[in-house]
Amino acid sequence: MAERRNVVALTGAGISVESGIPAFRGTQGLWEKYDPMEYATLHAFVRSPRKVWEMLSEMVSVCGDAAPNAAHKGMAALEKRGVVRAVITQNVDGLHQAAGSRRVIEYHGNMETLVCISCWKRYPTRERWRPGTVPLCDCTEILKPDVVLFGEPIPWLAQEQAEEEARTCGVLLVIGTSAQVSPACDIPRIAKESGAAVIEINPEPTSLTASVTDLHLQGTASEVLGCLVGLLRNPANGHP
Ligand code: APR
Repeated sequence: MAERRNVVALTGAGISVESGIPAFRGTQGLWEKYDPMEYATLHAFVRSPRKVWEMLSEMVSVCGDAAPNAAHKGMAALEKRGVVRAVITQNVDGLHQAAGSRRVIEYHGNMETLVCISCWKRYPTRERWRPGTVPLCDCTEILKPDVVLFGEPIPWLAQEQAEEEARTCGVLLVIGTSAQVSPACDIPRIAKESGAAVIEINPEPTSLTASVTDLHLQGTASEVLGCLVGLLRNPANGHP
């Protein structure tokens, strides 16, 4: 990282677990409680928006109450020091920006805005949503958070920017993602094929570990990033 400096990060739900936001998969995952095919596809939203809002309400509340943890702050510190150039996040919680990261590519959108899928009008979530209610547009249609549900395309600009960052980075940090969802899971491959070193930070191995990853730092995001920030602050402490 110190040598190549063109470091880009791809983050997933794991980086926000220590902020109290459950991941999607694995025990305690959100998809253990809500079948994503029934609660997280665009088709399901159009068919029964009130039902899908049961799950969305939980996400809006949990994200709304969460604060950035040491891992988010570590990323912001590495950006400030010119080591990290951009963060591509699959998360919709806005915690990278809350921690001070400036170049954040929101690959799956953001919970802080609601959009009407009939007239495309947008509203700040905090203005239109109340716990236990289903937010409505002025046109009376039910509003949807501006996040990418299964079956929806990735926002064009975010996809373009993310792939450009992956093609031109020296190091890709892959933090807290199971890499099971496409097209986000293709980003590490694009980086690798473009000559970048891929460093994975995750307590568990993933589908990338044996195929794409050059270095798997097995641990939580906050503890591993804490070490990296320390090492980069004080390279004299004898580590490579
Ligand atoms: N630090 C780092 N990684 C962690 C931590 C932690 N404290 N806790 C868990 N993890 C890892 C898990 O081992 C797992 O590999 O984070 C990963 C979380 O995986 P998922 O729950 O599958 O989340 P993610 O990869 O971000 O999901 C991708 O799928 O459901 C959709 O749109 C949703 O953006 C999401 C996408």
